[in-house]
Amino acid sequence: MRIILFGPPGVGKGTQAQRLAEKFNLVRLSTGDLLREEISLSSPVGRKVEQFLRKGHLVPDDIMLDIIENILLENKERDILFDGFPRNLNQAHSLERSLAQMQQEIDIAFEMHLDEDEIVKRLVNRRYCPRCERIYNLSTNPPKNDCVCDQDGAKLVTRDDDTAEVIKKRLKIYEDETRPLVSYYKSLNIYKQIDARGNQDEISDRISEIVNAYLNSKCTSN
Ligand code: AP5
Ligand code: MG
Repeated sequence: MRIILFGPPGVGKGTQAQRLAEKFNLVRLSTGDLLREEISLSSPVGRKVEQFLRKGHLVPDDIMLDIIENILLENKERDILFDGFPRNLNQAHSLERSLAQMQQEIDIAFEMHLDEDEIVKRLVNRRYCPRCERIYNLSTNPPKNDCVCDQDGAKLVTRDDDTAEVIKKRLKIYEDETRPLVSYYKSLNIYKQIDARGNQDEISDRISEIVNAYLNSKCTSN
């Protein structure tokens, strides 16, 4: 199974991706997390992409597609959940070509939807664990102890791109570059919009219901 989770910054993709990957035993492929790891390691890729993330711009497709290609090959036999990839039509077409070479295709493309005011509220209160990537929110999902990760005790951090100015830019880039994926995935008949209001469990239930229905339909047709 190949599932895409896309939507504007701060809508809750990473939060839901972590839950769904666990529930359905999927490899979670979060391009944002992968890039932040490269940056924290100061790797050659990390040094190349750092300024793009800091400014809220998309990383150039050639860099992104190289990374994805390798991960797809490493995980040929696994079910994959894409969090934050593809981000534009060029990436979407490349992903399809790569999957087709392995006789695979995308099963469902979920777009999470939420009003901009709510998105901004979620982002300004976000903290994350740089060690295990767990996501918190000081208002809706705070850590048990002030500013340290419940799981591994690492000090929680604010992302460099969670400033008012960069959030605005990321939202604009989403509208201009990523939103066209909606009509594209509708045309392929694999698009599902998810209402991202409500608590994390409610949203997980909405997504899981669709995944379960899809899995059942596959069982019946085989
Ligand atoms: P990426 O890391 O993917 O960032 P993003 O798309 O901007 O999305 P976020 O991670 O900010 O938000 P999210 O939707 O995951 O929300 P979260 O679950 O954290 O990408 C970062 C950068 O990397 C890009 O700007 C670009 O430079 C580069 N990049 C990445 N992929 C790329 C690609 N394919 N091509 C080119 N460049 C790429 O939740 C947000 C907050 O809300 C948290 O505090 C959370 O606790 C809280 N929350 C979650 N759910 C709820 C809820 N139901 N109720 C209340 N609060 C909630
Ligand atoms: Mg994320």
